[in-house]
Amino acid sequence: MCARRMAKESNTFGGEWSIKKLDCVESYLRSYLKVMMKKNWAELYYIDAFSGNGIQRFEGTYGEDQFSIAFEDELIGKFVEGSSMRALKVSDESERSGERGFKHFCFLELSGDKLSELRSRIEDSYPHMLARCKFIQGDVNDTLPELVRSIPWKEQRGVMFIDPWATQLSWSSVESLRGARCDIWMLFPLGAIIRMLPGDHLPPREFEGALTRIFGDDGWKDLYRHERGVQLSLFDEEGQQVSRQRGTKELIDYTTDRLRTVSQCVCGPAELRTSTNAPLFALYSMLPAGSQEAIRPFKAISNHLLKSIA
Ligand SMILES: C[S@@+](CC[C@H](N)C(=O)[O-])C[C@H]1O[C@@H](n2cnc3c(N)ncnc32)[C@H](O)[C@@H]1O
Repeated sequence: MCARRMAKESNTFGGEWSIKKLDCVESYLRSYLKVMMKKNWAELYYIDAFSGNGIQRFEGTYGEDQFSIAFEDELIGKFVEGSSMRALKVSDESERSGERGFKHFCFLELSGDKLSELRSRIEDSYPHMLARCKFIQGDVNDTLPELVRSIPWKEQRGVMFIDPWATQLSWSSVESLRGARCDIWMLFPLGAIIRMLPGDHLPPREFEGALTRIFGDDGWKDLYRHERGVQLSLFDEEGQQVSRQRGTKELIDYTTDRLRTVSQCVCGPAELRTSTNAPLFALYSMLPAGSQEAIRPFKAISNHLLKSIA
């Protein structure tokens, strides 16, 4: 099916939200390098957990599974600089103006082809930075915990961007961030999860496992209320009526509570919505571990940026 027709028929338009999220993270990186200017002792990392190939091309759809999102017609065919190239640009500009940049760049990506494309782009645009880049191919749920474990987080600090298409990130990966002294910007796939959580009956079995993998346990079942009812079609196995409150509030509150179990400070989220106001992602920033001195600027800058795009 052609992308335009698919966009119209699916009624799940993507759009400016994906540019907003990239601008937001780019602004955070600029502020972060300024805050870290006086902390010469710290070795700075930029970690891109779903790095892509360095550009975002609005081809029609975003993602490859049943939860993919179609873009608005006017964006199709356009390009924007992706998160990995933006991080290099911010760091390079900062260094050229006599300030500091990131010492290490870690790009994690499932697709070997995309990583090769990213490497070529860096060779073309930032050849002097290539030696600082690590290209890590594989499923992020394997590569991210391993990378986080390999960094001692004593004199190491950094920023991480977690930008999946949909529900690729497992809770075990989120848990692996515990204790990392790294400021994390993460997109939580609100729209895809809502589609797995029907309003008037429990999710089908195939989604149950996915939800438990995403949230780490089956606490998501508490999003459903069970009441004695009369309509047979709405009954669960015990003869009770099952329903979930519509909208995003309860799901967001639950997600935020889950993230707080691994993080000292959680900011946001800002909800990223389609032009037809359908929820797509919740953008969080979180600091798994940090001193009060680190938490203060983290919170102030994060809240300011998240508010500006909400
Ligand atoms: C939303 S895109 C990332 C875009 C990127 N942040 C940018 O700004 O250009 C998601 C990326 O994750 C990759 N991906 C999908 N599943 C993955 C997985 N399990 N592990 C690692 N990368 C994955 C896709 O190939 C895709 O490049």
